[in-house]
Amino acid sequence: MTGRVLVLGSLNVDSTSYVADFPEPGETVSSTGYAVALGGKGTNQAIAAHLAGASVDLVARVGTDAAATFALETVRGFGVALDAIDQVPDAATGVAQITVAASGENTVIVSAGANAHVTADAVEAHRWDVAAADIALTQGELPVDAVERLASLSSEVGTRFVLNLAPPVPVSTAALAVCDPLVVNQHEAVALGIGTAETTGLDAWRTVAESAAGRRCRSIVITLGAEGAVSAAGAESASVDEHDLSRSSQCPSPRVTAVDSTGAGDCFTGTLAAFLSEGRPLSEAVAVAVAAGALSVTSRGTVGSYAPRADLLAFAARSGIA
Ligand code: RIB
Ligand code: NA
Repeated sequence: MTGRVLVLGSLNVDSTSYVADFPEPGETVSSTGYAVALGGKGTNQAIAAHLAGASVDLVARVGTDAAATFALETVRGFGVALDAIDQVPDAATGVAQITVAASGENTVIVSAGANAHVTADAVEAHRWDVAAADIALTQGELPVDAVERLASLSSEVGTRFVLNLAPPVPVSTAALAVCDPLVVNQHEAVALGIGTAETTGLDAWRTVAESAAGRRCRSIVITLGAEGAVSAAGAESASVDEHDLSRSSQCPSPRVTAVDSTGAGDCFTGTLAAFLSEGRPLSEAVAVAVAAGALSVTSRGTVGSYAPRADLLAFAARSGIA
C-alpha cells in the first residue's frame, strides 16, 4: 500500500569538505575529499520518503543559476517529480557549506537564497495537493509563516501534519499543537523546553516524550543520535486507535561505524513520514526510521547514502529492529 507524502521543503546544493579535524578560527587546512551534491533538509526528506516507498510531492523553490539546473536534474534522477519546484527569477539556489571531520561529526552553514521565497501564499497555492496527501511534512529551514500556514491548512483539510523542527526556529504554539508527530533531536527538544540538557538515555527521554504528547503536540518523536529514538502519542493523535494502545515506545539504534552523519536526521524523518502515510503505527514507523538513519551514516553524503525500501527493511530485520 502506497501512501502520499507532500513535503514543503528546503532545497540546497551542498558543498562538502572532508577533513581530519575541524579547522580552528584563522587556520587553513587541506581537505581529504570534496563533493558537491543535492541537499536541503526538506529535499533530503522528500527523497528518503520516496526511496521508502511513498508517492511524494516536493514543493520547493530554486533560483535560475547553474546550481538550480544541477539540483533539478538530480531530483528528477531520483524519480521525484519537478512539478511543484518553482524557479525564482534572479534568486540564487540555496547552498550549504558542510565540513565533515574524521569522527563523522559535521558543521553546516546554510545560505537560504530561493528558499526564503517559500511563502504562506505558496503553501495556499497547493491547497488541493495538501488535501490529497496522507501526510504533510515540513522543517524549520523555511520561513516560519509558511510552516505555520501548512500546519493550519493541514488541520483544515484533515491531513496529518508532521514537523521536523530542525533548526529549532520559533513557531507558534498552535502550529506545534497539531504536529502528529513533532520530530526533534534531543538538542532541539531542549530548545523547546522539552527535557533538559541533563536528560540522558532512552528511558528518561521516553518519559519526557510521554509528558509532551497531548500537551505540546499531538504526538512527538525525539531522536537521540547513536542511541536511537523514542516516541509518544496523546489522545488526539491519528496513531491512537483500538489497534494501537501502546502510546509510547523506544527503539535503540543498531551499532554502526559512523562515516558521515550529515542528513541522517532527514533520512529518519522522510522514512518515518513514508511509513506513517501507509497507516503504520507510530512505534513501527519509528523503528524502520531508526534503521534507515543508522544505515545512512555508514556512507558519505546525504541522499547518496539513503537506501531503497527493500535494503532498509533487510537491514532492519538483520538488526532485529522491525
Ligand atoms: O540535514 C542536512 C542538510 O542540512 C544538508 O543537506 C544541508 O543542505 C542542510 O540543509
Ligand atoms: Na551519510
